[in-house]
Amino acid sequence: MNSGLIEKIMELKKRKNAVILAHNYQVPEIQDIADILGDSLELAIASKKLEAKIVVFAGVDFMAEMTAILNPDKKVLIPNPEAQCPMAAQLPIEDVRKAKAKYPGVPVVLYVNTLAEAKAEAYTICTSANAPQVVNALDSDKVLFGPDKNLAWFVQQRSEKEVIPIPEKGYCYVHRMFSPADVLFLKEKYPDAEILAHPECDPEIQKIATQICSTSQMLKRAKESPAKRFIIATEVSMVHRLQKENPGKIFIPALDIAQCKQMKKNTLENLYEILRDEKNVVSVQSDIAEKARVSIERMFELTKKK
Ligand code: 13P
Ligand code: SF4
Repeated sequence: MNSGLIEKIMELKKRKNAVILAHNYQVPEIQDIADILGDSLELAIASKKLEAKIVVFAGVDFMAEMTAILNPDKKVLIPNPEAQCPMAAQLPIEDVRKAKAKYPGVPVVLYVNTLAEAKAEAYTICTSANAPQVVNALDSDKVLFGPDKNLAWFVQQRSEKEVIPIPEKGYCYVHRMFSPADVLFLKEKYPDAEILAHPECDPEIQKIATQICSTSQMLKRAKESPAKRFIIATEVSMVHRLQKENPGKIFIPALDIAQCKQMKKNTLENLYEILRDEKNVVSVQSDIAEKARVSIERMFELTKKK
């Protein structure tokens, strides 16, 4: 159906020396044409090794910003600049500063789902794939952690340190849609199924999950597990990739309306247009980018395999 558009995107990509990075929650047609598809951590790692001149980042604001920060010499384009993660907006820079003033000397670990300004105030960042590892690598018995309180809870279960959430009740509206009753109903219907849940889910969902994982860790688990059926408690487009890469297994969304409206603002059409016109350039003020880069690089340093 979209083959004409896909052909045009491919031709532009080649002619302009461009690459497409996409998050696992993008619409299936974008997932299918991405050069690199992944979770936030994989996309951050990939962003450090890019050779293309233009990078189309199909994801939300904070992800595209991170790629721009790590690639000051490249043009980073976002298909729709209105693809803005509401959770990232829950922790403005002033609130990070206030928390630092209230807890002097306590390091700030920010979830990657924050804007560059906030990252610039943090000691380090983390993603859902490495949050406990980052926190446990710090030389401090307390950490300020934000903005997702459920991810903070997940980290607290895996750390001796005191994890202080900032703000107190940051959340993702998509992961808040899941109810333990719905998940248990599916589990009763399919007792052989594993429950894979994202750490942005409520603790009550995390407690009944077989495994709590980032989106790409879900793929790894689905591939390696002997189970044939999985209940997936994360954004619904994740099921597309899981199903595509594991055709012999069955993936059941924990809730089929759990859709991130912001991720869905990127479409094949606007992706084509921005690549054609080289518009929607993602830029981060240089002093903020410089400081944010330090906290991003520190995450890589803290999680480097010794
Ligand atoms: P992942 O890094 O696990 O892909 O999660 C990103 C995100 O925004 C989850 O809502
Ligand atoms: Fe933000 Fe939630 Fe959408 Fe992830 S799923 S981008 S945390 S709103």
